[in-house]
Amino acid sequence: MIPGAARLNVGSVPPVAVDHLVPARAMSLAESLLAELPRRWSHSAGVARRAAELSGAVAPADRDLLLCAAWLHDIGYAAAARDTGFHPLDGARLLWRLGWPARLCALVAHHSGACFQAEAQGVTGLAEFPDEQSAVTDALAVADQTTGVCGEPASLEERLAEALGRHGALSVYALAHSRRAPYLRAAAHRVHLRLTPAPAR
Ligand SMILES: [Fe+2]
Repeated sequence: MIPGAARLNVGSVPPVAVDHLVPARAMSLAESLLAELPRRWSHSAGVARRAAELSGAVAPADRDLLLCAAWLHDIGYAAAARDTGFHPLDGARLLWRLGWPARLCALVAHHSGACFQAEAQGVTGLAEFPDEQSAVTDALAVADQTTGVCGEPASLEERLAEALGRHGALSVYALAHSRRAPYLRAAAHRVHLRLTPAPAR
């Protein structure tokens, strides 16, 4: 049992028994939860498209996991998920409560360098979920950080600059930026290497 899960207010979202990871189910859940947030829904659809493009950077057995995480990574912004106000943790806790696999919940909790943001904001609770720091973690981060706020393609540097400008130089986002940005650039480099065919001998 995840600490704090009993306090969650999931509103009218019905629990879903998920035996395995099905991207269409993830899309459907994200669509219903984010109906109130059309820009966030468009962004999530864009991240899912980008994740599909990057799926060659993860093992074939993990491709549906990556796609599900892409669809669901930002559901913590939905009213039904709101608890701590820290969207990666709120989204992960909601997914856990709804019965989604632990690995998916953990990927959502830690997506796109959430640990740096949590530390800057003084948020505790992310340790409820293990950070697998895997090829899937990297591909999810790159898919998220190369998709703009309305789902449009963007470069990582454009996305970092846009977010920094939006939050402001004195924000907690800016506080985390100096550690989070190098982490995301390293993830992008690893994804690039994984997508680059080995030279013929
Ligand atoms: Fe996102």
